[in-house]
Amino acid sequence: MNLSVQLAPKNEHGLLLANPVMTASGTFGYGTEDDHVFDIQKLGAIVCKGTTLEPRDGNPQPRLAETACGLLNSIGLQNIGVEAVVKEKAPLWAGWQVPVIVNIAGETIEEYAQLAGELDGVAGISGIEVNISCPNIKAGGAEFGTNPDSAAAVTTAVKAATSLPVLVKLTPNTSDIAGVAAAVAEAGADAISLINTLKGIAIDIGKRRPLLGNIVGGLSGPAIKPVALYMVYEAARAVEVPVVGCGGITTAGDAIEFIMAGASAIQVGTAGFANPRAPLDVLEGIEQFMEKEGIKDIAELIGIARR
Ligand SMILES: Cc1cc2nc3c(=O)[nH]c(=O)nc-3n(C[C@H](O)[C@H](O)[C@H](O)COP(=O)(O)O)c2cc1C
Repeated sequence: MNLSVQLAPKNEHGLLLANPVMTASGTFGYGTEDDHVFDIQKLGAIVCKGTTLEPRDGNPQPRLAETACGLLNSIGLQNIGVEAVVKEKAPLWAGWQVPVIVNIAGETIEEYAQLAGELDGVAGISGIEVNISCPNIKAGGAEFGTNPDSAAAVTTAVKAATSLPVLVKLTPNTSDIAGVAAAVAEAGADAISLINTLKGIAIDIGKRRPLLGNIVGGLSGPAIKPVALYMVYEAARAVEVPVVGCGGITTAGDAIEFIMAGASAIQVGTAGFANPRAPLDVLEGIEQFMEKEGIKDIAELIGIARR
């Protein structure tokens, strides 16, 4: 059986995954935390925690709240900063078989470009995933990804700063997911990934106060799966580049739904908190499904529900 997928067919380096199962940024650290749980080299790719120019401590506690079938988080991009990623993490990744993609976040377009430049040509880094769910400080704080123009502007700047394959990760907090997807593809994204978390809050009724220190958090987990699947379906219609699906994927069946909706690869996030083996379980389940159904190449399944 062939499970391999090429996520950056037009890029000079390419981004060939042995299989379509990736980890979602912020839920799998730097890949080093879970390597005792299962053989992480079996995965298609690892996406590391969102990386900023300077190290960040993140938002005030509490930063997590469980919801019905979901999780609210307001981590606030706690991370070690790009310099430590390049000096301390990339040398480890360089010896790995599984490609590692660095997720980046900025407050201005210039910051995104600088981050991309600092990661360019670093051994051990196979691609960049651009998180455009960040507030655009210069433009009043709306997320870059909420409108096609600002999303495209970030993409153009990142592409100009690196030759690495660039995935642009879309936010669901927009009324025009197909428009944003088309704009970032037009601006040169090698692939798009979606979705990031949906905005949400929870109230502690005893304290009569919002539960999260930051008040607002991002909702993830099975609760968002139908929304994510819809957005992947819509985005895949709008672009020619590969689409990576994410949002509430817990089982192989979930993953196959995203692939049938048009995703070339998928990311497992929140599911890993309840079951650290979830990414591997999803991969093994996909293999079993293909075997049972007599499918020789994963390409046969990509977008099959749309035809
Ligand atoms: C605790 C936590 C931290 C996250 N951190 C990031 C991040 O740094 N960058 C990013 O692009 N997405 C981040 N995400 C979003 C996930 O990568 C993913 O898009 C989202 O959770 C939906 O997938 P899931 O339902 O499988 O978790 C984070 C999610 C969680 C739960």
